[in-house]
Amino acid sequence: MSPEKQIAKLRDILQDHNYRYYVLDDPTISDGEYDSLLLELESLEKGNPSLVTSDSPTQRVGATPVPEFRTIKHRIPMLSLANAMNKEELVAFDERVQKGLDTDSVTYIAEPKLDGLGVELVYENGSFVYGATRGDGFTGEDITHNLKTIRAIPLALRTEDLSVPAILEIRGEVFIRKDDFKSLNQKQESDGKPAFANPRNAAAGSLRQLDPTLTAERPLSIYCYEAGMIDGQNFSDHASFLKAVKKWGLPVNPFIQTVIGSEGLTQYHQDLEEKRNNLPYEIDGTVFKVNNYDEREDLGTRSRSPRWAIAGKFKAQQATTVIHDIHVQVGRTGALTPVAKLDPVYVAGVTVTNATLHNQDEIDRKDIRIGDTVLIERAGDVIPKVVKVIIEKRPKGTNPFIIANQCPVCDHEAFRPEGEAILRCGNISCPRQIKGRIQHFASKLALDIDGLGEKIVDQLVEEGLIQSIDDLFTLKQKLLAKLDRLGEKSAENLVEAISNSKDTTFARFIYALGIRNVGEHIAKVLEKQYAGNLIEFQNTDAEELEDIDEIGPIVAETVIQFWSDDSNKKMVQNCLDYGVRLATVEVNENQPFAGQIFVFTGSLEKFTRKEAKDTLVNLGGKASSSVSKKTDFVIAGPGAGSKLKKAGELGVDVLTEEEFLDMVKNA
Ligand code: IVH
Repeated sequence: MSPEKQIAKLRDILQDHNYRYYVLDDPTISDGEYDSLLLELESLEKGNPSLVTSDSPTQRVGATPVPEFRTIKHRIPMLSLANAMNKEELVAFDERVQKGLDTDSVTYIAEPKLDGLGVELVYENGSFVYGATRGDGFTGEDITHNLKTIRAIPLALRTEDLSVPAILEIRGEVFIRKDDFKSLNQKQESDGKPAFANPRNAAAGSLRQLDPTLTAERPLSIYCYEAGMIDGQNFSDHASFLKAVKKWGLPVNPFIQTVIGSEGLTQYHQDLEEKRNNLPYEIDGTVFKVNNYDEREDLGTRSRSPRWAIAGKFKAQQATTVIHDIHVQVGRTGALTPVAKLDPVYVAGVTVTNATLHNQDEIDRKDIRIGDTVLIERAGDVIPKVVKVIIEKRPKGTNPFIIANQCPVCDHEAFRPEGEAILRCGNISCPRQIKGRIQHFASKLALDIDGLGEKIVDQLVEEGLIQSIDDLFTLKQKLLAKLDRLGEKSAENLVEAISNSKDTTFARFIYALGIRNVGEHIAKVLEKQYAGNLIEFQNTDAEELEDIDEIGPIVAETVIQFWSDDSNKKMVQNCLDYGVRLATVEVNENQPFAGQIFVFTGSLEKFTRKEAKDTLVNLGGKASSSVSKKTDFVIAGPGAGSKLKKAGELGVDVLTEEEFLDMVKNA
């Protein structure tokens, strides 16, 4: 046999054993036998270096560390999941989905929620080309070199049972099994290195190594559970996608099941919670996803999470400890939050020393006092909270705890806005709030003013040099150079950085203002909607805001509140007068469907919802999931129900699929 054929055959054999081991969980050879086959391939390739390809199983560990992590933009955002905290919330989820789809029975795929790290794997024509972390959901870090070391990730997809699409993006969770974690920590210890707090941290640390030889030593596993972009193959539902994933040789969790309706959701959740401690890896809940892809498209997504999926949380893990003090913290928006200072205690993988007490009502309801022994719980990444006081252990002579009606930073009187449970410092010039607002304004994702760190901001505010955001633009080098921490040179650099920051974008500027609930992503949504026109944005109303995809009543209300305060308008005007310039946003008003909103309902027969949406976006239009006054057209297929009715009531034009296609053709 020619070396070429020999190499191809060995690769096939190795791939097949990998598939049997990781996907079928049915190995037919020992690790030792696998290794000797791999060695054989290695020596053949050594003798024929021109036959080495990057997806050969010998190419898992790269020779040189990467200098840094590049960032990778996800072609389709990696969203997170909304949570259901109990059975009722799972039932409510099913009700929402039923209502959204106009049906009374929904099929879901039920999956364990793995407690690891979300990653994306990208295959081109069957070869693994790169992989990234989830990051903020929009961009992640390029960790290709580390993912290649994970043996459960095939470098070349299997094609025996199914052809592969030209581009295949697959999402999954990288994690460490409980027994692997134990041996890893034993090894750390014997190497004189610190132990990892939990499997999740160990997995995260392993994926963030610049040197893949280090990652290769870590026992990482993966299960795949979602599709990103797929070019060249179509799936109508999640079940058939997962089936294909297995055929391509990628591991899929064996506990994944199809369930129907709210009964199915709650039963699966309960069963899995009972199995939880006996599973070989850590899970922190269940995930339920609408199976049918058209139905998913119909339900759409919120800004961070799809409406077609939910994470069912398991009950939190608990522990007891003592509250030795209660501090009151002041946030950037003036909120006073009581925080219990705890004797350190280990819960669900981390040492906890603080627990939020939320507000006075909460303290009263639970009668929480300094000196109390309390039961605390921690669920996932949420800040720990106090469940209850163990009254039998209360020492003598304690008093109820009352938050002083006074800001602990500026001593100004605090107030409780109507309908709110939280006390707020009433002093908009409270140094803590001013500092917080300015720090936020200067931060990386906002105006990104280099050199304006926390310490400098503190000094500027304490010395009375600035009181609000716009004051930043009045700072002169001479004055700055007199500050403790700044010499001539740094003062010059800072003035220059402030000046440079004036050239910015609408999205950055709006985010920088620190309007409550307007994060980086919502700011981008607003930029698009208002095409960068600040005046139009200032004069908006709640209805207009709520009509924007991804914006709900809470964001709308805080935006309106912000602009109803004249001092905010004045401050923004000052910034513009001092030379802040927002880059123009390109809008193409010549697109045939520019600004028009379409709603699709019923079962579509001529095209999928995804195709319709893509077509619309290309022509400048938008697809929305609900019918309102702003809807321009409803496209109704057979079986359309409540949305069609609503269109009739509101007098919105209704088209058939053919009429819509004609419209597109003539556009
Ligand atoms: S699906 C839109 N499925 O949970 C779909 N995620 O909060 C989002 N996760 O970042 C992902 N197990 O890292 C999905 N079976 C599963 C999962 C899962 C764990 C993680 C994932 C994601 C986070 C979402």
